[in-house]
Amino acid sequence: MELTVAITGASGSIYAHRTLLHLAASGVVERINLIMSESAQVVARVELGVDLREADSARINEWLKLPLDSKLVRFHRLDNLAATPASGSHLQAGMIVVPCSMGTLGAIASGACTNLIHRAADVTLKEGRKLVLVPRESPYNAIHLENMLRLAHAGARILPASPAFYHRPQTIEEMVDHLTFRILDQFGVPHSQASRWKGETNSGQ
Ligand SMILES: Cc1cc2nc3c(=O)[nH]c(=O)nc-3n(C[C@H](O)[C@H](O)[C@H](O)COP(=O)(O)O)c2cc1C
Repeated sequence: MELTVAITGASGSIYAHRTLLHLAASGVVERINLIMSESAQVVARVELGVDLREADSARINEWLKLPLDSKLVRFHRLDNLAATPASGSHLQAGMIVVPCSMGTLGAIASGACTNLIHRAADVTLKEGRKLVLVPRESPYNAIHLENMLRLAHAGARILPASPAFYHRPQTIEEMVDHLTFRILDQFGVPHSQASRWKGETNSGQ
C-alpha cells in the first residue's frame, strides 16, 4: 500500500509522529509520501523539541528510528508541485492530513492548490480516494464548521483529534494511539487492537 501523509501546523505533532510510526511498523505500507508545511515544523519544534527544518528523507528516517537508507518514507518539499502525490495518475490508496490546521482545511475546502499538501488533497478527492483529515482547533468558528461540512460532502473523512477515555489510557502515548489506530482503521492497516471497545454486558462487566 502507498499513502500520502501531510503534517500541518495545528497543535498535535505527536499525532503525526505516532501515525507514521504505526504505519511504518504495520508491514503492509510500502511507501509513505510525506509532506510538511512550514508551520508544522514550528509546531514540531515547540511540542516535540525536534528540528525538522531542512528535513530530508534521511532526517525523517532518523526521527522515525528507521534505517537511514530506508526507502519507506519519501519526503517531498512543500513547493514541489511536480511530486508524485500531485498527480492523479500516480496510484495510491489515499491521504492523511494529521494534524490538520484550519488554514489547510480552508484551502482544501476552497480548492486552492497553492502548495503540495493542498494539491495532493485535491487530487485525492477528485480521484475518489480516501482523504482523512484530522483537524485540531478549539473552539470552532462557523467558517471552520462550514469548511468541514463542505469537505465531508466532497468525500473527505473528518476524524477530529478528540481523545477518548473509555480504554483508560495511562500515558499520553496510549491516549494518542487510540486516535492513530482509528486513522489506520480507515485504510484497513493492521495495528494492536488493545484500545478497541469490546462491549459491556448488561451487568456492566
Ligand atoms: C504552537 C502553535 C500551535 C498551533 N495550533 C493550532 C491549532 O491547533 N489549530 C490550527 O488550526 N492552527 C494552529 N496554529 C496556527 C497554524 O500553525 C497557522 O494557522 C498556520 O498558518 C497553518 O499553516 P499550515 O496549514 O500551512 O500548516 C498553531 C500555531 C502554533 C505556532
